[in-house]
Amino acid sequence: MTHTQGETPLVSERQAETQPRINVVILGAGKGGRALLESFLNLPRIHLIGVADKDEKAPGLKLARRHHIPTTQDALPLIQQPDIHLIVDVTGDPSFSQNIYRHKHPNAEVLGGAASKVLWDIIQHESLMQTRLFQAEKLAGMGTFASGIAHDINNPLYIILAMAEAIQDETDTASIHQYATSIRDAAQRIQTISQNITHYARASQSEESFPVPVQETLDEALKIAKFATKFHEITVIQNYHDHITIDSKPEELLQVFVNLMINAIHAMENQGLLTLTAENQNGVVLVSIADTGKGISAEHLPKIFDPFFTTKAPGKGTGLGLYNVRSIVRKYKGELTVDSQVGKGTIFSIVFPSVDPTHK
Ligand SMILES: Nc1ncnc2c1ncn2[C@@H]1O[C@H](COP(=O)(O)OP(=O)(O)OP(=O)(O)O)[C@@H](O)[C@H]1O
Ligand SMILES: [Mg+2]
Repeated sequence: MTHTQGETPLVSERQAETQPRINVVILGAGKGGRALLESFLNLPRIHLIGVADKDEKAPGLKLARRHHIPTTQDALPLIQQPDIHLIVDVTGDPSFSQNIYRHKHPNAEVLGGAASKVLWDIIQHESLMQTRLFQAEKLAGMGTFASGIAHDINNPLYIILAMAEAIQDETDTASIHQYATSIRDAAQRIQTISQNITHYARASQSEESFPVPVQETLDEALKIAKFATKFHEITVIQNYHDHITIDSKPEELLQVFVNLMINAIHAMENQGLLTLTAENQNGVVLVSIADTGKGISAEHLPKIFDPFFTTKAPGKGTGLGLYNVRSIVRKYKGELTVDSQVGKGTIFSIVFPSVDPTHK
């Protein structure tokens, strides 16, 4: 069973533009008129013919001028125009409404009185909802981001803890030296992550990618995955083709491989075959990580890339691993697919678009 990362279909707003235009006039440019105008400006079908208010400093008139919509202090000539479909009266002046009916073109409909108040209430409510939604999205984004960071920092932290424990029981100086080197490397990786966050916070897109050797990165990822899991009875097969590179940031590529390997090892419950493949096929790079684990059910398969989807026990997994993997793969224009059979195993394959020509 194969599942490819889903692309959200684009919904075109142009459809609305092909529908007939509605020519609208707004009478009254105070708070209500301004709010209406603001909403109407976002609706492609609505064509604003003009806005009127006795007070030339009314906020709605200012906004209309900024958008090059005709404004006037004298509403009557405006509403006589023959091409108007709708006059929205938010003047709040009942005596003026009779004037409108007397002077308007017969084809123009009028929305006034209680109806225009209801419309205004709806718009106010929607604008409040938009503000709340925007804030909720910002908060949700922060949560996802924070959990993503925690997730990425955990891997090198595992190494630091494991190595520090090993040093406590070690008397051989050569081994201690080796453990200390691993601790330094892991700490440097945390430093890179924290530097990335600073970049992210500054919304800087100046990320430098360069041809990163795939084989070394897979080996490095395997080391990390071994530390982060109980790896006792897992056999690793490495089908590498030499000198394959992927244009990327090395720590991001590493993050992809580590996540896929840890998932594979967990799925095998510490026993099985982990096959790592990296090959160059007609100018594209194919990397796959296959396991002989428990597989993914048809019910779970469409959900595994969703943020926070996990089948692990509470506290054991954040469900952000594959979500992060997919984000990184997409960033490098790669394609991530998964093929799984329950009880037999799973293979995650990534196709990266092109290989640096000097490294073929
Ligand atoms: N190789 C695999 N074999 C079987 N199931 C898998 C495999 N990889 C992922 N899954 C399923 O997909 C789910 C989501 O994986 P993901 O990596 O996003 O989160 P997680 O591993 O549960 O938690 P985290 O990665 O945050 O520790 C897993 O809980 C598991 O059910
Ligand atoms: Mg995972």
